[in-house]
Amino acid sequence: MKTRITKLFGIKYPLVLSGMSWISTPELVAAVANAGGLGILATGILTAEQSREYIRRTRKLTKKPFAANVTLYFPGAERNAQVIIEEKVPVVNYALGKGDKIAKAVHAYGGKVIATVTTLKHALAAQRDGADALIVTGHEAAGHGGAITSLVLIPSLADALEIPIIAAGGFADGRGLVTALALGADGVAMGTRFMNTKESPVSEIQKSISIEKDVYSTIYTDKVDGLFARVMDSKGAKKLIKKKLNPLSALVNSRKIARLLGFPWLKLAIGIMLSGYKRSVQMARMAIGFEAFQVGTMDGDNERGVLPLGQVTGIIHDTPTVKQVIERIVAEAGKLSRELPKLF
Ligand SMILES: Cc1cc2nc3c(=O)[nH]c(=O)nc-3n(C[C@H](O)[C@H](O)[C@H](O)COP(=O)(O)O)c2cc1C
Repeated sequence: MKTRITKLFGIKYPLVLSGMSWISTPELVAAVANAGGLGILATGILTAEQSREYIRRTRKLTKKPFAANVTLYFPGAERNAQVIIEEKVPVVNYALGKGDKIAKAVHAYGGKVIATVTTLKHALAAQRDGADALIVTGHEAAGHGGAITSLVLIPSLADALEIPIIAAGGFADGRGLVTALALGADGVAMGTRFMNTKESPVSEIQKSISIEKDVYSTIYTDKVDGLFARVMDSKGAKKLIKKKLNPLSALVNSRKIARLLGFPWLKLAIGIMLSGYKRSVQMARMAIGFEAFQVGTMDGDNERGVLPLGQVTGIIHDTPTVKQVIERIVAEAGKLSRELPKLF
C-alpha cells in the first residue's frame, strides 16, 4: 500500500502501533515494524537511562524504521526527549505539549515528527511547530481521546491541514482502515487491537476479559489520572471515580511518580506546591492514575487497577499475532476497495 504516511516513514503499510506505557515495548514495536507497520516505543514511564536501553534493544530486534514517544506533560519528559534525539530515533512522537524544539532537533538529523492531538487548535499549532504528520485521536479511543468521534474529527481536521493524518480511536480491522482513508486520513494508529495480540505484554487476564467486552463496556472520565480518558468499566475504575482528592494527596502521591520516573522528589514536590490548587489535585490524580494503570495493565487486577480500553474492544474477538493482525487488515481493506466500487 502507498499513502503519504508509508512514503514519509518508509513503511509497507499505513498501520501504527500507539505508544502505550508498559505495552509498547521493544518486542511489540519490533513485531509491528517487522510486519510492515510503524511501532511507537512508549517512554512515558521510563527513566532516561531506561529509554536509551529500550531504544537500543529495539534496534537489535528490527532493522526497520520505528518511533519513540514522549509525553511532554509528564515530569522527566525533557530528559527522555533528549535521549530519543541523541539516539537519532527515525520517528519521534510527542503529545500533550509544545513540540517546536523537538521538531527542530529531530529534523536536524533527518528524522520525522508526529504530534498526537485531539483538537483542531492543537493540530494547527503542531503543524506550525514543524510536525510532519499528526495522530488525531477521537472519542472512541482508549486512554486520552478527545470529545469528538473519529467519524467527524478526521474529515474536519483533514480539510483544515496540509500534513498527513493518522486516525486513532475506534480502528481494529480492514473496514476501519478503508473508512479512515475515505475520511481523509493517510493511515490508522491502534491501541486496543495491538494490546490484544500474542506478543503484547499485557496481562493474559485482561486479554481474555476484553475479548468478552462489548462496545458499551468502557467509561470516559477525568477522575482516573486527571485528564479525560477512556477505561474499561470495572470496580477499580468506579472506586477511583468516587475518590476525593486534595493538594495534600498530591504531595503524598508524588513520591510514587518520582520513584517510578527516577525524578528528584523534592523538585517534583516544590513544583506541585507552586502549581496552584487545581493543578495539584490533577497531579494527585495523575500519581494515583499511574499506579492504577500499571496494576490494571500488567497485573490484570480490575479491583485495584484500571485498564485503558477503547470502544472498539466490542469488535475484537481474538488474540492473534501482530503479523496476523496486520495481514488480515490489509487483506480485508483490499477486498473492500475492490467490492465498494461495484455499488456505484
Ligand atoms: C491498554 C492501553 C494502554 C494505553 N496506554 C497509553 C499510554 O500510556 N499513553 C498514551 O498516550 N496512550 C495510551 N493508550 C492509548 C493509545 O495510545 C491510543 O491512543 C488508543 O488506544 C487509540 O484508540 P483505540 O484503542 O481505539 O485503538 C493506551 C491504550 C490502551 C488500550
